[in-house]
Amino acid sequence: MFENMNEKEARQHILDLVAEYADSFHKKKEYEEGDRISYASRVYDRDEMTNLVDSALEFWLTAGRYTDEFEKAFAGYLGVRFCSLVNSGSSANLNAFMALTSPLLEDVNGKDRRVRRGDEVITVAAGFPTTVAPIIQYGAVPVFVDVTIPEYNIDVSALEDAFSDRTKAVMVAHTLGNPFDLRAVRAFCDKHDLWLIEDNCDALGSRYEMEDGWHFTGTVGDIGTSSFYPPHHMTMGEGGAVYTDDPLLNRIIRSMRDWGRDCVCPSGRDNLCGHRFDGQYGQLPFGYDHKYVYSHFGYNLKATDMQAAVGCAQLKKFPNFVEKRKENFAYLRNGLKACAASEGLDIEDKLILPVASAHSDPSWFGFMMTCREGVDRSTVVSAVEASGVQTRALFAGNLTKHPCFDDIRGDLSAYRIVGDLHNTDTIMNSSFWVGVYPGMTKEMLDHMIGAIIKAVQL
Ligand SMILES: Cc1ncc(COP(=O)(O)O)c(C=O)c1O
Repeated sequence: MFENMNEKEARQHILDLVAEYADSFHKKKEYEEGDRISYASRVYDRDEMTNLVDSALEFWLTAGRYTDEFEKAFAGYLGVRFCSLVNSGSSANLNAFMALTSPLLEDVNGKDRRVRRGDEVITVAAGFPTTVAPIIQYGAVPVFVDVTIPEYNIDVSALEDAFSDRTKAVMVAHTLGNPFDLRAVRAFCDKHDLWLIEDNCDALGSRYEMEDGWHFTGTVGDIGTSSFYPPHHMTMGEGGAVYTDDPLLNRIIRSMRDWGRDCVCPSGRDNLCGHRFDGQYGQLPFGYDHKYVYSHFGYNLKATDMQAAVGCAQLKKFPNFVEKRKENFAYLRNGLKACAASEGLDIEDKLILPVASAHSDPSWFGFMMTCREGVDRSTVVSAVEASGVQTRALFAGNLTKHPCFDDIRGDLSAYRIVGDLHNTDTIMNSSFWVGVYPGMTKEMLDHMIGAIIKAVQL
């Protein structure tokens, strides 16, 4: 088959076939009444598949040229200087949090900013577990504050109450794409010299207007994290990213991601700085190979170049994805109100509908609803599911109620709760959400609207 071709031509031939294969066998099936409508789905075409196979044919496997391309393009999109690709959003959170524990943060402009065991990190319990898990795993103390409804984000009026002389950071997610009050949280962190990690896994492409103008969420805090797991705003199968504008944090993030090493040479490259054998580190003999000097107890959280290759193609489509998510959200919200009204029903008597936070332009991950008193969530969810529409809970609901807390429940040295998490419990008991992913059509959204209106009247 490859006679009379050089390697480049042979590769192109394969990629042309892959593109044709994708067009022929990965065509999106048209929605038909009765089809199940999932809350999320990958949106991709020949571009992702050809990139993936291109990287497979190169067979570098680990982080390589596609990773470089992705990290640069992703940082460029967000408007930050540094991005590190990792193998999941949970790894991104682990990487971001552990960076704050580095000894290199013991003197930041004359202040000790290092997070130590027993130090406190303000967060919420209404969200995804791996925003909180790294804090507990390290032995720091999460301090849970309530959230507001209908924004489903951290209640910033509780921040000062949550503060103690051990508070070192705030680590919290932008819920389902809706930005939390970044103005208030940033001001609180600045006032008390706290780190801010934005878990941006569900909000990629969301924007927020600070006093100095609009910013992407994930770039206002000190570190932002993303997930590229399939339901998310863009995908690589598995994958995540950690980003920052701070060179010192970036150096630590890279070290923690890459085994804890001190050296910054990419894999497969040696002695980029020209000082591989002439340094003094710790108690090692002078000139010990810098490639194997460890300044942190690190991990290996890197992704493969095949994941990055898929991400490069997704990123080019990404701005359109964001627009489509916004359109779908608006269509659902307006449709629910208008269709209910045409049946003589005020939908807001039955459900609390989601509202964009002040100063924000959300790239919605989902459409969140809370059942009003007298409307039973399980009845509504069962009916919506039975009509073919997939629903989701807001992840953990109230994380502190889960079996993973059984071991530490009530142990004030392990975690603290400020106030009574009233809204968090309401979310656990009465909220659910449906999708707005870019592959949804008007027909699907119309079906969802009809299903929800019917369900709340049961
Ligand atoms: C807010 C939030 N953070 C972190 C994660 C973890 O991402 P991953 O599934 O890529 O580990 C998720 C997962 O969906 C999430 O919703």
